[in-house]
Amino acid sequence: MRLGGARQGRHSGDKISATQWGTMAKSSAKTVFECSSCGRTTPKWVGRCSQCGEWNTVEQRVAFNARSKPGLGRAVSASEPLPLVELAEIPTDGTTHMATGIEELDRVLGGGFIAGSTMLLAGDPGIGKSTLLLQAAAAIAETGRKVLYTTGEEALEQIRIRASRLGVKGGGVFMASTGDAVEIAAHMAALKPAVVIVDSIQTATHPDLDSPAGTVSQIRECAAFLSERARLSHVALVLSGHVTKDGSIAGPRVLEHQVDAVVQMGGDPGGTLRVLHAVKNRFGPTDEVGVFEMCGEGLVGVSDPSRMFMRQRSNRAGAVAGSAVALIVEGTRSLAVEVQALATPSTLASPRRVANGVEMSRVHLITAVLAKHLRLPVSSHDLVISVTGGLDIKEPAADLAIALAIASSMTDRPVDETVAVAGEIGLAGELRPIPRADRRVAEAARLGFLTCLVPDVAGDASGQASGAASGAGRSVTVIRATGIAEAVKFALRPGSGRPGRAESGAVPETVSKVEIRSS
Ligand code: TYD
Ligand code: MG
Repeated sequence: MRLGGARQGRHSGDKISATQWGTMAKSSAKTVFECSSCGRTTPKWVGRCSQCGEWNTVEQRVAFNARSKPGLGRAVSASEPLPLVELAEIPTDGTTHMATGIEELDRVLGGGFIAGSTMLLAGDPGIGKSTLLLQAAAAIAETGRKVLYTTGEEALEQIRIRASRLGVKGGGVFMASTGDAVEIAAHMAALKPAVVIVDSIQTATHPDLDSPAGTVSQIRECAAFLSERARLSHVALVLSGHVTKDGSIAGPRVLEHQVDAVVQMGGDPGGTLRVLHAVKNRFGPTDEVGVFEMCGEGLVGVSDPSRMFMRQRSNRAGAVAGSAVALIVEGTRSLAVEVQALATPSTLASPRRVANGVEMSRVHLITAVLAKHLRLPVSSHDLVISVTGGLDIKEPAADLAIALAIASSMTDRPVDETVAVAGEIGLAGELRPIPRADRRVAEAARLGFLTCLVPDVAGDASGQASGAASGAGRSVTVIRATGIAEAVKFALRPGSGRPGRAESGAVPETVSKVEIRSS
C-alpha cells in the first residue's frame, strides 16, 4: 500500500529530459560557503572559520533547497510531505548485480555493478584505474548494454590509443571528453546507458560553483548531483578518484558516506601486481580481494594469487631471516602471503615502526608480546614490516606470521621454508583460535608446504583440517602450538647453514603433532 501514491517517482526511476536536468539544477541552487574542516556554513566567504579557527578552509558550495532539490525530481510544496511507502512495497528490481565479465572485479563488487548505485574506484594516480574502467566498460558493452565513459583528464585520442593497446573494440562505449556534471547528466538522459563512468571525480565541475575542480566542495556537489541522477535513471554510476589508502591526498574521503561502494585499488609499488578490495559495499561483501597483473595488454586477472605471491619468494636463493608465510582468508578465497620484517638496532629514542599491509595496532601488540614473553629487545630496534604483493591484511590470523618474521629478523634465524602459519596472538602470548582453519591448511597443502603451524585450541577439530587437506590431494602435517614461545621454538631454524627443524625432525614437547595424509 502506498500513501500519496501519485508521487512515488523516487523509487521508480523517473525519466527526465536533458534540458530539464540543466534548468532544474540551476534554478533550485543557492550558493553558500562551507568550512571543509568542520562543516560550518556562512553566507559570505571568510578567510578563517569562526567555529574551528582553521584558515583557508571555507569554500563555496551549492545548497539545494531540500524541497525543490533537483534530485527529488518533482516540485513538492512545504505543506506536503513526501509519500510514505510500506517497506514490503519498495521495489528491489534495481539491486541485481550487473556482471562486468571481469571476474576479479565482479568478485570484489559481489557480482557486478548495481543499477542506480554509485561506486567510487579509489587509488593512487597511475595505479591503473582508467585502464580497469575502460576494460570494464568494454566488457559490459559486449553484453549489449550501452556505456557512457566521460573523461575530464585525458584526450579522447589518448583513450583510443589505450583501447587499441588493450585490444578493446569499443562498440557500445560512448565517449565524452568533459568534466561538467550538468553536461554528463544531459548525456546520461539522452543516451540512457546502463553504466556511466566519470574519470575522474577530481576533474568534475558543477557550473553553479565557482571553486576550481578538485576542491572538496566541487567533488562533493558533483558526486551528489550525479548520484541523484543515476539513482533516478537506474544507471550504475562509477567514479574514479585519486585517494591514497589513508585518504590523506585531496578530500575525496568525504565521498565515502555519499557513495554506495568504495573500491580501493592498491598494489606493489613499482611492481606489476594490483589488488582491489572493497572498503565499503552496501550491496556486497567487503572481505573479498581481486588480484590483477598489469601487463602490456592491460590488467589481467590472477586466478591463483597465492602462487603469484609465492613465486616472488621462490626467486630468492635459500632461506633468509625475516620472512614468514601467513595463511589468510579473504572472503571466499584462502591465500598464502609472505610477511617480511627487518629489525635493525636503532639510534633513536623512540625507534621507528613502519608497517605496509598490516595494521600498526597489531604490530604494537605483537612487539609488546615478543618483548614480554620472548625477552626480545624490540624496543631498541627500528622495525619495518611489509606484506609482499601489496596486499592489505586485516585478519588477526596473520599475527603469528608477523611475530615469526620479527623474531626471525631479530635473531637472524630463518623461518623453516616448508612451514606456513596462521594464528592470532593474545596479550598473554597465547595463540587464539582462528576461523576456517581447514581452508588455510588446504591452501598450504595445495601450495606444497609440508607443515602448517596453527593454534592448539580445543574444539578446533583436526578432522576438519584433515578433510580439506585430503581434497587438495597432498599431505601436510598440522602442528598445534599453544603460545608464541612454542611457535617460535618450532618454526625458527637453529641458524643459517645448520640443518632446519624439518630436516632434523625434532618437535618440541610442548606442541602436539597431528599427521594428515591424503587418501
Ligand atoms: P592508468 O589506468 O592511466 O592509471 P590511473 O587512471 O589510475 O591514473 O594506468 C597508468 C599506468 O598503467 C601507466 O603507468 C602505464 C600502465 N599501463 C600498462 O602497464 N599496461 C597497459 O596496458 C596500460 C593501459 C597501462
Ligand atoms: Mg586515470
